[in-house]
Amino acid sequence: MATQRSSRALRLALRQASAPRVQQRTFVSAVNAASRPAVKQTAVSSFVQQTRGAKTVDFAGDKEKVYERDDWPRDKLLEYFKNDTLALIGYGSQGHGQGLNLRDNGLNVIVGVRKDGASWKEAEQDGWVPGTNLFDIDEAIGKGTIIMNLLSDAAQSSTWPHIKPQLTKGKTLYFSHGFSPVFKKQTGVEVPTDIDVILVAPKGSGRTVRTLFREGRGINSSFAVFQDVTGKADEKAQALGVAIGSGYLYKTTFEKEVYSDLYGERGCLMGGIHGMFLAQYEVLREKGHSPSEAFNETVEEATQSLYPLIGANGMDYMYAACSTTARRGAIDWSKKFKDTLKPVFEELYDSVKTGKETQRTMEYAGRKDYREAFEKEMEEIREMEIWRAGKAVRSLRPENA
Ligand SMILES: NC(=O)c1ccc[n+]([C@@H]2O[C@H](COP(=O)([O-])OP(=O)(O)OC[C@H]3O[C@@H](n4cnc5c(N)ncnc54)[C@H](OP(=O)(O)O)[C@@H]3O)[C@@H](O)[C@H]2O)c1
Repeated sequence: MATQRSSRALRLALRQASAPRVQQRTFVSAVNAASRPAVKQTAVSSFVQQTRGAKTVDFAGDKEKVYERDDWPRDKLLEYFKNDTLALIGYGSQGHGQGLNLRDNGLNVIVGVRKDGASWKEAEQDGWVPGTNLFDIDEAIGKGTIIMNLLSDAAQSSTWPHIKPQLTKGKTLYFSHGFSPVFKKQTGVEVPTDIDVILVAPKGSGRTVRTLFREGRGINSSFAVFQDVTGKADEKAQALGVAIGSGYLYKTTFEKEVYSDLYGERGCLMGGIHGMFLAQYEVLREKGHSPSEAFNETVEEATQSLYPLIGANGMDYMYAACSTTARRGAIDWSKKFKDTLKPVFEELYDSVKTGKETQRTMEYAGRKDYREAFEKEMEEIREMEIWRAGKAVRSLRPENA
């Protein structure tokens, strides 16, 4: 369905994305830039208002405050955390991204991981020095005033009986996911009642948290307060959000964060989209189309041409940038897909909210053969015809040839 117009638009979008000035873009200018190529231009001032540092943004009629990096310049961050030691526990994807960004921002941050684990070596490779700013978990918690629990969600639960007694009055407990405290019945993570408990959840992988920071940009994150005993939990979460590399932050609750996150990744972000790819591909193959044709029409054109355009400019732009034939059919069929899929999404949301998804995750992560079982599933996916065809298609991209 690719059109000359959409390829031109893609080149323009990619040029915009790689232009150096993108590094100075704020959220507001990004919103403005994103709306620029669309049919209708909206003046920034009509939907953004400055209110005491934070901005109120009109998200489709719903006014929300957003907090930007500009609200917490580096000097203000250094002053705010001058008496704190940020003890970052766990050094997986988020530990790596958040930890290095905090360190580059000049804050007093230490890492706590188990000495015999893979993370210890990775932290050393990233320049954390044993005995100086790299410790085992207990020692780091002992030294920290703000304990950033970035262990895997399963490990947050299994280590909790050991960690909880060390979270003494005056410390702050930080998460990047509402999972452990919200599903406390399953995880056992019942937080002490005399400490602040906050969350900053980057909307992307820890690797992206790091790369966007290094590019002078920032990831979008949500923040939330679970428990505020000092009266400062809200501003502490905002400040930490900026310190770990967020470009802008929106406020949520622990419950909403975890429900939307588990729902999203099982839906449009991964599970749902994988299901759509498989269903479309299988029908094309059953109707006699070749693997290369089926893959190109299902995945390659989506990820390489159309999805980046939707991301840059929205769905109306995408419909406007394709042929009349494609537009008519896509708009008509979108309604049928929505109506057919909505009950599935409702079922999914309920499964998340009732803790069924959590139960399944905990059982899965708690299996002794977890890594082998996961690898077996990945092998099955790798060996599916669609993804083997995809490997061949990707090898033909000029940059990979
Ligand atoms: N990854 C993402 O894209 C993402 C995005 C937003 C929020 N989050 C949230 O951020 C948090 C951290 O996620 P992540 O993906 O960065 O973590 P992860 O890769 O799942 O795990 C991180 C750490 O957990 C440690 N660990 C695992 N089992 C342990 C145990 N039994 N005892 C002690 N340490 C153990 C690992 O240490 P070893 O190397 O020693 O095993 C590793 O340092 C989670 O709450 C997650 O939901 C993640």
